[in-house]
Amino acid sequence: MNDKQLVALQAAKYVKSGMLVGLGTGSTANYFIEELARLQRDEGLKITTVASSTISALSAQSLHLPIVALEHISSIDLYVDGADEITPDMTLLKGRGSDLVKEKLLAKAARQFIAVADESKLVNHIGQNFLIPIEVIPFAWQLTKKSLEGVGGQGALRPNPAKDGFWVTSHGSYVLDMKFDES
Ligand code: A5P
Repeated sequence: MNDKQLVALQAAKYVKSGMLVGLGTGSTANYFIEELARLQRDEGLKITTVASSTISALSAQSLHLPIVALEHISSIDLYVDGADEITPDMTLLKGRGSDLVKEKLLAKAARQFIAVADESKLVNHIGQNFLIPIEVIPFAWQLTKKSLEGVGGQGALRPNPAKDGFWVTSHGSYVLDMKFDES
């Protein structure tokens, strides 16, 4: 069992029957989703889930976890998601994937948020390994970039893998990958 799986299984211990549970996105969150499905199948766990991304929603559906849409919820019991960077004072960078907005909405809506990460995510300062991803409404990307430059940021729109266009999040937004003076 690898470290991502180990921390995901630990997080699953916080899940109790009757909870509305937010599902994060990424390989660590996938282990958590799989464990929820196992607990439902083998131990009679009864939960409802809400996903932070289309891909996590598909995983949950394929594993027969009951799922509701984000638009139908106003709070959740628990949100479990991976991390990109974690500093010693527990500052967290998330969103290197495609699902920044939903991830943050669910983390905020949750009574309890557990970030699950292996040792590779520990850094001295945010921005050490990654640029800071900022999701922007497509028509406002230049305005947003200028605002971010005003507070010391430098960066550009994230290109798509073919580099013939721009990365689009599952929310339909662009992503500005920014570097700040102190990062
Ligand atoms: C998604 O936008 C990201 O924040 C992921 O949660 C993060 O990159 C962790 O991914 P892994 O669990 O795959 O490392």
